[in-house]
Amino acid sequence: MNFKNDFILSNTNYLLNHSVGRPLITAQSAFQDAFLDPWQNSGREPWGAWLTIIDDFRNALGKMFNAPMTEFCPQVNLSSALTKVLMSLEVLQKKSVVILLSESDFPSMGFAFKKTLLEHCELRFIAKECDITDIDVWQSHLSEDVDLAFISHAYSNTGEQAPLDDILSRCQNLNILTILDIAQSAGILPLDLQKQRPDFMLGSSVKWLCGGPGAAYLWVNPKRLEECKPKDVGWFSHENPFEFDIHHFDYHNSALKFWGGTPSITPFAIATHSIEYFSDIGALTSRKHNQKLIDLVAKEFDSEFVSPKDQSKRSGTLILDFKDRQESILLALHNNNISVDSRSLGIRISPHIYNDENDIDQLISAIKNAS
Ligand SMILES: Cc1ncc(COP(=O)(O)O)c(C=O)c1O
Repeated sequence: MNFKNDFILSNTNYLLNHSVGRPLITAQSAFQDAFLDPWQNSGREPWGAWLTIIDDFRNALGKMFNAPMTEFCPQVNLSSALTKVLMSLEVLQKKSVVILLSESDFPSMGFAFKKTLLEHCELRFIAKECDITDIDVWQSHLSEDVDLAFISHAYSNTGEQAPLDDILSRCQNLNILTILDIAQSAGILPLDLQKQRPDFMLGSSVKWLCGGPGAAYLWVNPKRLEECKPKDVGWFSHENPFEFDIHHFDYHNSALKFWGGTPSITPFAIATHSIEYFSDIGALTSRKHNQKLIDLVAKEFDSEFVSPKDQSKRSGTLILDFKDRQESILLALHNNNISVDSRSLGIRISPHIYNDENDIDQLISAIKNAS
């Protein structure tokens, strides 16, 4: 199947899926149908239709990650979702809390931990130099005094993947709370919430799900729901939003207790359409295609290939380090209309379902021909 025809690629060889995925050609009409039509074509207020979009969004996530839609709550972004989760847990409001995270996590997550928790909490970092793909590294950090472990499923700056199953089972054995960040893995690394069960999961639609910014989500493990007492609430976190009694508030009995005031709808109308598209393809199919294309690059640039060679340790991103040729290669790629970027370890390249072998051939020859 030629997935290229389904996306707006603007004549580029687009390999920046760790940053922003490309929109579907049908995104605009899906948005028109779901969001604008009910607003434009009726003299009544469109909330009924708009809230259906949120149900569809949660259903699409349920299908993608194999969990009931009631366990998902829309969020603005991961940082805000993380703050809400941390503020909701009374066990984290005590004096000596130890949080385990990694220096390779997305910095915004560290900022949210630092500013949300009490000052004497300890943020214990797995150092950047450690091999985050190695369960022994995690084992040596997951000691009995840790209260909560923050796990990024995939790391876009290193092209690595965390050994999720082993981390989760170790944490379960030690009764350590877990928060999983799937910003860089959603849609490209298969995840089955019936098998992999963190306590909380935070994700967005920006990258491999090609759904644009603003359509983030929080998944709450039902065994944690009761103890969560969100502080950042609004009428949509209420069991009955239309009760309208300022003296009475009951939390919603689903993950929607984390929702808040009048919700935004627009980003979810766009994202739902594309999450449905990717869940029909299946993350395993996208993953296999992505790994096949990464292998083609690995074959050509063995010594420059600094992200993991072992597929079980890889994310969807590969990193090439050309050392002092880096700048001229980046310029050559730019001049050849090949979209990549670079971070401290090297050039980041993320092939998606709409990339093909021809795109990879172009990339390889542009690199080889760079002065
Ligand atoms: C691993 C990871 N987590 C989180 C984020 C984004 O967090 P937020 O949605 O708060 O901007 C990114 C963005 O690139 C990311 O790569």
